[in-house]
Amino acid sequence: MTDASPGFACAPGFACAKVNLHLHVTGRRADGYHLLDSLVVFPPVGDTLSLAPAAGLSLAVDGPFAPALSGEGDNLVLRAAARFAAHAGRAPEAAFRLVKTLPVASGIGGGSADAAAALRLLAARWNLPIPPDLALALGADVPVCLARRPARMSGIGEILAPAPALPQFGLVLVNPGVAVSTPAIFRARAGEFSPQADLPSAWPTAGRMAADLARLGNDLQAPAIALAPVIADVLAAIAAAESCLLARMSGSGATCFGLFPDAAAARRAAAGLARDGWWCWGGAGQMAPAQG
Ligand code: C5P
Repeated sequence: MTDASPGFACAPGFACAKVNLHLHVTGRRADGYHLLDSLVVFPPVGDTLSLAPAAGLSLAVDGPFAPALSGEGDNLVLRAAARFAAHAGRAPEAAFRLVKTLPVASGIGGGSADAAAALRLLAARWNLPIPPDLALALGADVPVCLARRPARMSGIGEILAPAPALPQFGLVLVNPGVAVSTPAIFRARAGEFSPQADLPSAWPTAGRMAADLARLGNDLQAPAIALAPVIADVLAAIAAAESCLLARMSGSGATCFGLFPDAAAARRAAAGLARDGWWCWGGAGQMAPAQG
């Protein structure tokens, strides 16, 4: 089964990682939320959520990062299902099973992607559209994770515009096993706000893309390193890998990414980056386009 996202073929329950190739904090709203400008991509690695009919609402979690996650009511999957059911005027009768492959609280959207997958699965089952406000109320990254395609994200995360046309590229993701708190990182951010980035409409090569992105940054990277210094070690290790074009942190961390010319180079680099306690993945920079 595939969803209706134009251009990409993947199951509605596939909760893929989101990677912020740059992230500028451009302002702050009166309610404390920050205004962002970010180019977001979705590599083909993620959690898998499935749904079976049941008398009540439940969530079973397994996979490598299951122990880090609570299956209780505060899980975003359950919150998403309960809110969507309330909105739809239906009983939330669903037994979810989540295979947790992505590290938890790690800047690549795991929880938001899981919530988005829950909404997609229920929308398909109930044949209902997903209200955009409901997605945003679950988390600032949920709208972009719902779309699951490269996007230029602004507002607090709810404004999505097309990304520049992207070349082939590879990505490495490395998480050093420290969970960082997103609110704490935003609170620790200091200094001026950044401008919106000036991006071209297309990048012909991964090299040109990396050169343009190198002039931008992730405004949350310095505060994250101050709170979790191991992030600097991760960035140095990625940057030292053969043919790495750019190393940067994603989101509020601690996961960092490396940009590579292609998926094969990224896979080779990921194999060389494995350390005790570090989660590493390498592959294509974005999901394969749908066939036909
Ligand atoms: O929306 P989400 O629950 O993912 O955000 C977690 C926290 O991160 C917020 O409570 C807020 O402190 C911070 N945040 C922010 N600006 C954003 C996104 C998140 O200040 N655009």
